[in-house]
Amino acid sequence: MKEVLFLVIAYLLGSLQSGVWIGQLFYKKDIRNFGSGNTGTTNTFRVLGKKAGTVVLFMDILKGTLATSLPIIFNLPLNPLWFGVAAILGHTFPIFGKFKGGKAVATSAGMLLAYSPLFFAYSASIFVILLFLTSMVSLTSMLSALLITLSTILLPIFFPVILTNQDWLLTILATSITLFIIIRHRDNIKRIKDGTESRVPFGLNKSE
Ligand code: G3P
Repeated sequence: MKEVLFLVIAYLLGSLQSGVWIGQLFYKKDIRNFGSGNTGTTNTFRVLGKKAGTVVLFMDILKGTLATSLPIIFNLPLNPLWFGVAAILGHTFPIFGKFKGGKAVATSAGMLLAYSPLFFAYSASIFVILLFLTSMVSLTSMLSALLITLSTILLPIFFPVILTNQDWLLTILATSITLFIIIRHRDNIKRIKDGTESRVPFGLNKSE
């Protein structure tokens, strides 16, 4: 029973729409009406700029980390990863935003941070390298999710310093979240195919 209550709290944490609220409060702009229309970090950077984007990145990661840490803080017997999943669902289908939210990337990263800071650092490095190579956050997000999922299987075998135990729940959830992330990026995939996907102003394929 207590677990259900805390899963709901994790979902509510995930539902906090920092990008939308910061835009409305400080910039008098609803980011859902600009750029990609997404409520997450990338569109906040795009529409509101670096300062707001950095705050939202931090907050979207933090809510995943906090939610995943709930069972550790309150000594609950359910695996912490489930609370991360609840936060990811909250972020994507927020109760405070007519169930139209982000694409699950930053909050999933927050879940990884709570799971293992070292694995988070490894995953963040993959993201940064891919972002430099592609200059597209959407493509980077999808490719990173795939590589991170693969890493949950390969690291414990070949490089256990970063991930010691083979954690099949992590692998199963990472696989599901990756599929979910790809589905959430279907409009981006169309734009990538058309050559119209927006690019960041740095990296090998940066915007003009
Ligand atoms: O984290 C979402 C990102 O991968 C894509 O965002 O706004 O370009 O659709 P956006």
